Amino acid sequence: GFLAGMAAARRHDGETATVPTLTVDIAYGTQTGNSEELAERLAGAVRGRGLGATVSALDDLDVATLATRSYLLVVTSTYGEGEMPDNAELFWEALASDAAPRLEETRYAVLSLGDSGYEGFCQAGRLIDTRLEQLGAVRVVPRVDCDVDFEEPATAWVTDVTEHLAAEAPGAAGAALPTPPVPVVAAARPPRQRWTRREPYRSRLVTNRVLSGPRSAKEIRHYEFDLGDSGITYAAGDALGVVPVNDGALVEALLDRLGLHPDVAVDGGTVGERLTRGWEIRTPSRDLLTLLAERDPDGDLAAVLARGERDTLDHWLWGKDVLDLLLAAPGVSLTADELAGALRTLQPRAYSISSSPLHSPDRIHLTVASVRHGEDRVRGGVCSTFLADRLGEGEVGIYLQPNAAFRVPADDDRPMIMVGPGTGVAPFRAFLHERAARGATGRNWLFFGDQHRAEDFIYADELTELAGRGVLHRLDLAFSRDQAEKVYVQTRMLEQSAQLYAWLEDGGHFYVCGDATRMAKDVDAALRLVIEQQRGRGAEDAVEYVADLKREKRYVRDVY
Ligand code: 2AM
Repeated sequence: GFLAGMAAARRHDGETATVPTLTVDIAYGTQTGNSEELAERLAGAVRGRGLGATVSALDDLDVATLATRSYLLVVTSTYGEGEMPDNAELFWEALASDAAPRLEETRYAVLSLGDSGYEGFCQAGRLIDTRLEQLGAVRVVPRVDCDVDFEEPATAWVTDVTEHLAAEAPGAAGAALPTPPVPVVAAARPPRQRWTRREPYRSRLVTNRVLSGPRSAKEIRHYEFDLGDSGITYAAGDALGVVPVNDGALVEALLDRLGLHPDVAVDGGTVGERLTRGWEIRTPSRDLLTLLAERDPDGDLAAVLARGERDTLDHWLWGKDVLDLLLAAPGVSLTADELAGALRTLQPRAYSISSSPLHSPDRIHLTVASVRHGEDRVRGGVCSTFLADRLGEGEVGIYLQPNAAFRVPADDDRPMIMVGPGTGVAPFRAFLHERAARGATGRNWLFFGDQHRAEDFIYADELTELAGRGVLHRLDLAFSRDQAEKVYVQTRMLEQSAQLYAWLEDGGHFYVCGDATRMAKDVDAALRLVIEQQRGRGAEDAVEYVADLKREKRYVRDVY
């Protein structure tokens, strides 16, 4: 039914009146915090119309009682190749099951975030949207699928859904009201960030140092950003958004190929400026692929697109940037406006922070692998090479991306198990500094690894020192290429099966950070295997045990 609750409101004249207050339930599924931020923004807009709003993670919704909710608004991202974000997995399991309730009385809307560069674009949102419809729920507004450039479509959807609610929900501002709208006291919410992706803080990079050895296959760097007078207060576990600037040499090569003067006006600026700061020029957009195939119908790209096979396209595109595509179609010329229409907006990149504010209140540390490949010319990660090579001691736009789900245990006595190979160690360095500064007595166990000990054991001195101080109780290392057979972090987990289970049974929290496609999946499987071995009650029981860990927020991941 419509009337979700009756709230007693104190009117300005001091008299107490009882008016119906409709509560809109807003739930998010998030991996990096974008959906959560949007959910909070949506709640603000809904409350602005005099309606109540609750915000929670999808996993915190009880599917069995969903039918009692009048309005359910879902904002969710998709993780990896079309999977549910970690804090939506349990919700989805319940919603997809045969036991899910009928929802004829529920109105809903879904906003989904994704990256069209991945298979299963916006899949999580699509699945939830379709399933809610199957269960009989009725849409308030159609689902919107946003690409990485989500700001504009997401804002439009928030406005759209809020206006529909205002028009149709009893008690909303805009509809006839028996009494003034009731301000609803919201539960404690994370503080609004002063600096955002739209308005980043201009920070100075004060440290840029290579951590990995000279013969490493990777180049991993340690960076420190000065927080100056920003007022930014961060927490161990948060991420930092960094606004990159494209490579000047690449911009020149593009202008040269297109025969465009950098001062040509476009998009409220100049083409030189847009190519430098406004547009994504490494990863080609869908629109660009389509446009180039149209203009060069006999070219390889057109042939590959015509086959309509995702794998073939991915294979052909591998390592190619926008310049490569233009060079492969030498007969095609594009105007600045066509370029503006085809390229995506350059997005900030987010990295897990590797410092703790208790240890480093004035500087945020990052631990970042520089992405470089290609031989004929330099091709690389837009932001990682910007930080490594081009920024120098210059100013750089940053903003905090809170990750409230990824925190050291509130209880200082709880054991902590951290799996973070490669740059995945970043947040765990922060966690260890945090626990050291708090004087936390809980035991800490880190699984770390990479290719070679001599080249890739980053922060070795610091970790040794933390071990010496009794902060790091166990350090298990897995260097995959120092011996004939591959040894991975999950190999070490399985070797330590009994101990690992004992730590979990002692109330331990289990954390994973790093590669999502292979490592995190294998670590997840290893965790289930450890539990199955130790409990001896079969695979189903192990799955349930892991689900409980997730429900209790004792199994959390920061994977990408
Ligand atoms: P490899 O490249 O020698 O196979 C960082 O890239 C480290 O992660 C490397 O040591 C790499 O090993 C390892 N790695 C590769 N695949 C992995 C997986 N599925 N699980 C865990 N570690 C993996």
